[in-house]
Amino acid sequence: MGKTYRIITYGCQMNVHESEKIAGLLEEDGYVPYSENEAADVVVLNTCCIRENAETRVLGNLGILKKEKENHPDMKIVVCGCMTQADGAAEKLKARCPFIHAILGTDNLDKLPQVLAENAKKTRIEISQEHKLKENIPAVRSLGVNAWVNIMYGCNNFCSYCIVPYVRGRERSREKKQIIADVRELVSRGYSQITLLGQNVNSYGNDLGDKNNDFASLLSDLSDIEGKFRLKFMTSHPKDIVSQTVDVIANSDKLSHFIHMPPQSGSDRILKLMNRRYTAGGYLEKVAMIKDKVPDAGLSGDVIVGFPTETEADFADTLKLVSVAEFANLYTFIYSRRSGTPAAEMDGQVSVADKKRRISELIDKQFVISCRLAERCVGKTYEVLGTEYKKGKMIGETKCGKAITYAGSKDAVGKFVSVRVTDNKNSKLYGEII
Ligand code: SAH
Ligand code: SF4
Ligand code: F3S
Repeated sequence: MGKTYRIITYGCQMNVHESEKIAGLLEEDGYVPYSENEAADVVVLNTCCIRENAETRVLGNLGILKKEKENHPDMKIVVCGCMTQADGAAEKLKARCPFIHAILGTDNLDKLPQVLAENAKKTRIEISQEHKLKENIPAVRSLGVNAWVNIMYGCNNFCSYCIVPYVRGRERSREKKQIIADVRELVSRGYSQITLLGQNVNSYGNDLGDKNNDFASLLSDLSDIEGKFRLKFMTSHPKDIVSQTVDVIANSDKLSHFIHMPPQSGSDRILKLMNRRYTAGGYLEKVAMIKDKVPDAGLSGDVIVGFPTETEADFADTLKLVSVAEFANLYTFIYSRRSGTPAAEMDGQVSVADKKRRISELIDKQFVISCRLAERCVGKTYEVLGTEYKKGKMIGETKCGKAITYAGSKDAVGKFVSVRVTDNKNSKLYGEII
């Protein structure tokens, strides 16, 4: 039997997919997945540092793993992902947790097999700030319905609260032909849903120097690929989503009508401080443009409450934007101070009590909206892709991204069926196959 590995993943879809690549590298090297009731020979923590609580969870888990390693001294613990790339973070982690075997940066994953072959006593650090594109890292994909495909890495936007540009480097788009080849292969392997990944997919191609090679043309070419599948993407920066892209979404039978487009705030003053480069009015114009061209679009967004200097009036503007935009789903975050970002240095940090009160008010407001939108679905019929079999029921997703629970057997996963919505319970939809 080969040595075993375990991967613990934190953070966004980008990291979820990167963990598939880590698994690919390890399996190519002869490692096999561990079974849950035993200690793995190699434990990889794929970390996130977007908010403080993400880092706290990683450190908590390292504490647990330290104890496990005391009982299994040969266990090798490797830390990789975004947390390792922050300024001075790797050295600090090494000093705090000397039992870590290696710390690898987000662009140094290919060193994993080599590093694991070594038996050095001291923590090995491999971090490059170059952020070069690396193709051909094999991925062990989860056997579900969805396959992830990176179309770009990094971010150029420098929203003032956000650590991502510092840990992930500048935007690098993958060549279109590579992306098309990946999607074609995944569809032929039976994946019914492909999700394209990038921090800001709408700026795809900007760095490739060919104006015709933009996100809209990528989507259009991908939707020409033969086969029955659904194409999703995330995330869309509101300043960069253009009508040509929305036209492709409206006219393609493959593209999902679910669009994740975070507003972050509804206050123009705060949006400016956040360096988002749009106003609340501009955001809502984009929403109106999308709903005009794609009437059944399902919108989701992210909102941060308690950004430095946010007043009750600013927060009221956010509540207003949220009620006009009518998100099907809203992800709400309490502002977290990230050292090295401009917002961390700003005066007027908001108290924890105010942040907590605002987030719960926002969650309550969104709940009412989600319930209202869900109620409108009752009685309607949707084409649903079965995504999961859970507790004897199927869960599927509509073209506009709504989840519906319906009766079905396990082999309905990955299949498209027509489902009529019969019930809405607290914004959760239930239906039956027709
Ligand atoms: N690239 C994507 C999202 C990346 S991070 C985009 O631009 O939309 C995911 C979400 O985390 C962000 O949309 C934001 O709402 C939230 N976020 C990022 N930095 C944060 C911080 N310092 N504190 C709280 N939330 C944060
Ligand atoms: Fe962060 Fe802004 Fe880039 Fe998104 S667009 S990753 S929020 S800097
Ligand atoms: Fe994603 Fe967290 Fe990194 S949100 S890009 S894993 S900092």
